[in-house]
Amino acid sequence: MQFTNILLEIESRIATVTFNRPKALNALNQETLLEALACFRELKNNDEVQVVILTGSGTKAFVAGADIAFMRELTPLTARNFAFLGQKVMNTIEGLGKPVIAAVNGFALGGGCELAIACDMRLASDNAKFGQPEVNLGVIPGFAGTQRLPRIIGKGRASELIFTGDMIDAAEAYRIGLVNRVVPQDQLLLACQAIAARIISRGPVAVRLSKEAITNGMEMDLARACAYEADQFALCFASPDQKEGMEAFLEKRTPRFQGK
Ligand code: CAA
Repeated sequence: MQFTNILLEIESRIATVTFNRPKALNALNQETLLEALACFRELKNNDEVQVVILTGSGTKAFVAGADIAFMRELTPLTARNFAFLGQKVMNTIEGLGKPVIAAVNGFALGGGCELAIACDMRLASDNAKFGQPEVNLGVIPGFAGTQRLPRIIGKGRASELIFTGDMIDAAEAYRIGLVNRVVPQDQLLLACQAIAARIISRGPVAVRLSKEAITNGMEMDLARACAYEADQFALCFASPDQKEGMEAFLEKRTPRFQGK
């Protein structure tokens, strides 16, 4: 698939999606969000792809937010539709059925931070900066930042970031659990690819069901979430990969998973 503002590369079962509007620090306008939606829907249905890495083009920005020039002229109704579109992109990442790793290679602000936190995990380059600066523009986060950020770093820390609009650096993002790891910029994609390769070597069905258990279970109370986990666990036993994984362990050999 060809896009104007997004680059898509698929190699060794890893899809790398690069937001590519360097002149606007990869900011998300409507066209880019529509392309992202089409891209993620395609990746969801592409069985060749097992892990997705998201990043931004260049060395300065992951994504510097929703496009402010685009948003300036919005009305309440078109603003609501824009927020719904952004939220649909984030929800599609969560519902992709395969792990998505954010390679945060610079500014991840506003919609860019919201994009990163819709991913399953985040690795950051040492120059990365995170923030929800919307209050500086007289608005609030609209791509689910007020909802996902407190779920990841807690209500107090999320409130501080959202109410002050302050940016934090990669070291602070690591300290508060917003990112899994901080690496030098030239090693960021390699580090993400190494995690992706480890995930790909495991049972794809089990990886998929564990993503669903984590993502959907976090929206339930503990009793319902545990029941849901038990159902996902049970579903693994319908897959040849479960038989192969357990047989391989008992036969002391490496499993040959088929992804079924
Ligand atoms: N939208 C549109 N254009 C943007 C942009 C954005 N979010 N962020 C940067 N750009 C553009 C700048 O306008 C500039 O364009 P020109 O060269 O044509 O002037 C270009 O990218 C380079 O940016 P700067 O010159 O500002 O670069 P800098 O190094 O001085 O500063 C920055 C970098 C701190 C990231 C700064 O660009 C900045 O603060 N950007 C805005 C960040 C922001 O407020 N994001 C939140 C948007 S609101 C949102 O996302 C709402 C939501 O939840 C849905």
